[in-house]
Amino acid sequence: MKALVYRGPGKPSWEEKPAPTIQEPTDAIVKIAWTTICGTDLHILKGDVATVTDGRTLGHEGVGVVEEAGPGVSSFRKGDRVLISCITSCGKCDACKKGMYSHCEKGGWILGNTIDGTQAEKVRIPYADTSLYRIPAGADEGAIVMLSDILPTGFECGVLNGQVKPGDTVAIVGAGPIGLAALLTAQFYAPARIILIDTDDNRLAVSMKLGATDVVNNSDGKAVEKVLALTGQKGVDVAIEAVGVPATFDVCQDIVAAGGHVANVGVHGKSVTLKLEKLWSHNVTVTTRLVDTVTTPMLLRTVTSGKVLPRQLITHEFRLDEILKAYETFGQAAKAKALKVLVRNE
Ligand SMILES: NC(=O)c1ccc[n+]([C@@H]2O[C@H](COP(=O)([O-])OP(=O)(O)OC[C@H]3O[C@@H](n4cnc5c(N)ncnc54)[C@H](O)[C@@H]3O)[C@@H](O)[C@H]2O)c1
Ligand SMILES: [Zn+2]
Ligand SMILES: [Zn+2]
Repeated sequence: MKALVYRGPGKPSWEEKPAPTIQEPTDAIVKIAWTTICGTDLHILKGDVATVTDGRTLGHEGVGVVEEAGPGVSSFRKGDRVLISCITSCGKCDACKKGMYSHCEKGGWILGNTIDGTQAEKVRIPYADTSLYRIPAGADEGAIVMLSDILPTGFECGVLNGQVKPGDTVAIVGAGPIGLAALLTAQFYAPARIILIDTDDNRLAVSMKLGATDVVNNSDGKAVEKVLALTGQKGVDVAIEAVGVPATFDVCQDIVAAGGHVANVGVHGKSVTLKLEKLWSHNVTVTTRLVDTVTTPMLLRTVTSGKVLPRQLITHEFRLDEILKAYETFGQAAKAKALKVLVRNE
């Protein structure tokens, strides 16, 4: 079969490799129908993720059809159409029993990281019973790919950890796919204001269409002053960091109001300075989280019922054999006005 393989920093390669086979009774082999590219895949290609080694098939998002289910799989059989979670969970270890699938002792984020991923014609999914979700007939499967990673990430790490409540003022720093997923799912709780902060005017315009009440362009580095001006100098109840650099974490620390929450979502490669000399007396919480995908069943219902429309986050579509072109487009997101690029294998 063909797969998108990591061959070292800056070297994605579209190549032939053996199709996956069942290795454990709890495995399933899924033929990919749809996949996509994550910002994390770009981090991998820069060489930022040391656990990804030469020869690894990338990708941790996708929808497909079960081609073979191991004898230990009870919930799925050949022909079932399934959503693949970016997080693999055994369902049995201490972490899984706490609902912290991201830290599953046998799984977690392994797809397209320590085992071969979804940017291929087929993928092996360990612990299929607890790592796949059945897709209702007639669902918009391309849109459902957004449930593999970005919707649960924006919701769990941003909205739930940030404790968004009715009437709140929420700021989301970063209007990429993850920030926009937080924007879509924050609206479950009817916050009064949602302020999106980015440096890309196109993404800010999209934010307004998706429910932001205000946008702030931070190209001049003045997001803090602008958000304080918008909020009568009070700041925000919830500041969601969806970029992953010290400057944007600082924005969150500087705009959080007393009693508020800073919910970090971004993957950080550098230390940040915690401004405890100001925050110690402000009754704030700062949270971090690797997405658990524990809300996937709930989010799947909101998407299939049309309460949330993640199709709005898809800007481009490619065939699987054009995936290098898809990487190029996604890699120049600002120039290409790209959000999520959908990749089709059917
Ligand atoms: N915690 C988790 O489990 C988890 C899961 C998936 C992704 N992530 C992380 O979430 C983050 C966001 O992901 P994404 O795919 O949306 O990334 P992205 O790169 O598409 O979006 C980031 C956005 O931040 C904006 N930005 C950059 N510098 C800025 C600045 N100084 N001020 C304001 N805006 C700025 C960019 O213009 C861009 O629109 C990444 O760090 C990603 O690795 C975390
Ligand atoms: Zn991802
Ligand atoms: Zn587990």
